Amino acid sequence: MEQARQWRARFEEEGPEAVLRWALSEFHPDIALASSFSMEDIVLVAMIADVRSDARIFALDTGRLNEETYEVAEEVRRRMGVRIEWRFPDRAAVEELEGSKGLYSFRESLENRHECCRIRKVEPLSRALSGLRAWVTGQRREQAITRRNLPVVEIDEGHGKILKMNPLAGWTEQEVREYVRKRGLPVNRLHDMKYPSIGCSPCTRAVAPGEDPRAGRWWWESPEHKECGLHARNAGGNDRRNKGEGEE
Ligand code: ADX
Ligand code: SF4
Repeated sequence: MEQARQWRARFEEEGPEAVLRWALSEFHPDIALASSFSMEDIVLVAMIADVRSDARIFALDTGRLNEETYEVAEEVRRRMGVRIEWRFPDRAAVEELEGSKGLYSFRESLENRHECCRIRKVEPLSRALSGLRAWVTGQRREQAITRRNLPVVEIDEGHGKILKMNPLAGWTEQEVREYVRKRGLPVNRLHDMKYPSIGCSPCTRAVAPGEDPRAGRWWWESPEHKECGLHARNAGGNDRRNKGEGEE
C-alpha cells in the first residue's frame, strides 16, 4: 500500500510516457495493455510501442463489438507493427446464455446485463490477466463519476493484487485528441460519429452535445451502474468509489 502511494505521487508528476517506460522495464513480459481501441487506448499503444515494439497488448472480443472497432484494431496492428492478443469468452457459456435467454437478455434487467458482461468481458479479462504482474488501462478521471478519484497506479485487489496502471488518468479529452493529432494516429470512426466511449455495439450509442461522455453506455441504466465489472473493486484510492458497483 505504502509502495503504491509512493508510485502514485511520483507518476502523477512525471506523466504517462515515464509511467510506461518504468512499468515496461520493470515488468515486461508480465505486463499488458488492455485495449478497447478507443482514442485513449491507441495513444497508449503508440506510447508503449515507442518503448518496445513487442510490448503486450490484449483486447477482449466480446462477440458484440462494432465493425468500426475491428477496422481500427486492424489499422493499428498493420500501421504500428504490434501484435494484438485477442481474448474470447468461454464458448459453452455464450452458447448457454444465448440459447436460454436470447440475444438481447442484457436489456431485460440489470442482473441479466451483469451476467452478459461477466461472461463476455469479466471472465475473459481474468484469464487475460492471469500470470501478469501488471496491466495498463486507458481510463481517465473525466470519463465518469465512478472514475473521479482514479489513481495513476493502484493495486488491483480484484485480480490477485497485481499492479494496475492508468497512465492517462489525469488527461483531458482535449489532451488525448491533441496527442492523436500530433502523431497522426488511427482513430476509431465511432468517435467521429459522437461515440466518446467504445463498448459493445448493442450497449453503446452516440451522445448529444453536452451529454455526459458515458451517457451512451447502457443508456437505459442510471449513471452509478455504468461499469461492466472490468474495473470494479480496485483498491488504492478508489475502493470506496467502486463500492456497490461490482456485479459479482
Ligand atoms: S468499461 O468498463 O466501461 O467497458 P471503458 O470502455 O470505459 O470500460 O474502457 C476503459 C478501459 O478498459 C479501456 O481504456 C481499456 O483499457 C479497458 N477495456 C475496455 N473494454 C475493453 C476490451 N473490450 N478489451 C480490452 N480492454 C478493454
Ligand atoms: Fe453484453 Fe452489453 Fe456487456 Fe457487451 S456491454 S458484454 S453486449 S451486456
